[in-house]
Amino acid sequence: MKGIILAGGSGTRLYPITHGICKQLMPIYDKPMVYYPLSTLMLAGLREILIITTPRDQERFKQLLGDGSHLGCRFEYVVQDYPRGLADAFVVGADFIGNDKVCLILGDNIFYGSAFGSKLKENTDPDGGIIYAYHTPTPERLAVVEFDENMKVLSIVEKPKVPKSNYGIPGLYFYDNDAIAIAKEAKPSARGELEITELHNGYLKKDKLKVSIMDRGTAWIDPGNFDDVLKASQFVQIIEERQGQKIGCIEEIAWQEGYITDAQLAELAEPLKKSGYGQYLLGLLD
Ligand code: TTP
Repeated sequence: MKGIILAGGSGTRLYPITHGICKQLMPIYDKPMVYYPLSTLMLAGLREILIITTPRDQERFKQLLGDGSHLGCRFEYVVQDYPRGLADAFVVGADFIGNDKVCLILGDNIFYGSAFGSKLKENTDPDGGIIYAYHTPTPERLAVVEFDENMKVLSIVEKPKVPKSNYGIPGLYFYDNDAIAIAKEAKPSARGELEITELHNGYLKKDKLKVSIMDRGTAWIDPGNFDDVLKASQFVQIIEERQGQKIGCIEEIAWQEGYITDAQLAELAEPLKKSGYGQYLLGLLD
């Protein structure tokens, strides 16, 4: 399975900040936002990852993340010239995906939970599509999924006025290779976007869409406005301070997953010592 991070978009809810820097490169406490979705893909065991950006920001992502070899991964980059919607990731990313299965994560989605990586790994060989359902007090702000006791999806509705459940769909999805064909056939919505809900309804029609509940021990934060950026930073700061362990630390995950050796981790840590980030990485080797 390959991974895609969708890190384009306009970030209009963060103007004027996003006039100068894109949302996914903004800090969430002690690291850039994109580290969190990247760490989620790496925890799922994925090492070939495409990063989709705006034309303006591609170079900055390359400066930050390079070709991935320092993390034992392979990163590729492609531009989405205009924010044509989430499902456009499979059109823009079709060549990269090739004949493989694919996991899409939105570049501003942060997940944190116990044994999260092993739970993700259960979904990396889907026959059809797999989405998550996340319990929320405000489903009307999200795509809402309705399902029965056998976890069969009954409906998916984008930002419904009257939600049929309290479960929203977070920005982390697993698909077989049909995602490319379904996305290419999808028609843009009234707002001119290739909607991810269209893709899901395409899978639903073929009876090939599964839903997994993201359990209550897992936190999902989607920092799209000022308050949520601050709250996400506070969340990460509190957990890291209480536990002495970092969230979304891509170097640590590469080392834990066995993608890099002790010596490579020490080499990555060295230039990061002054901020304390490098000391943390060195501490893992003790
Ligand atoms: P959104 O948060 O829905 O949109 P946005 O980032 O453009 O922000 P705003 O609503 O404030 O204008 O996007 C979710 C994620 O998907 C985010 O990482 C940006 C990315 N995205 C793209 O890369 N391309 C797109 O066409 C869209 C719609 C989003």
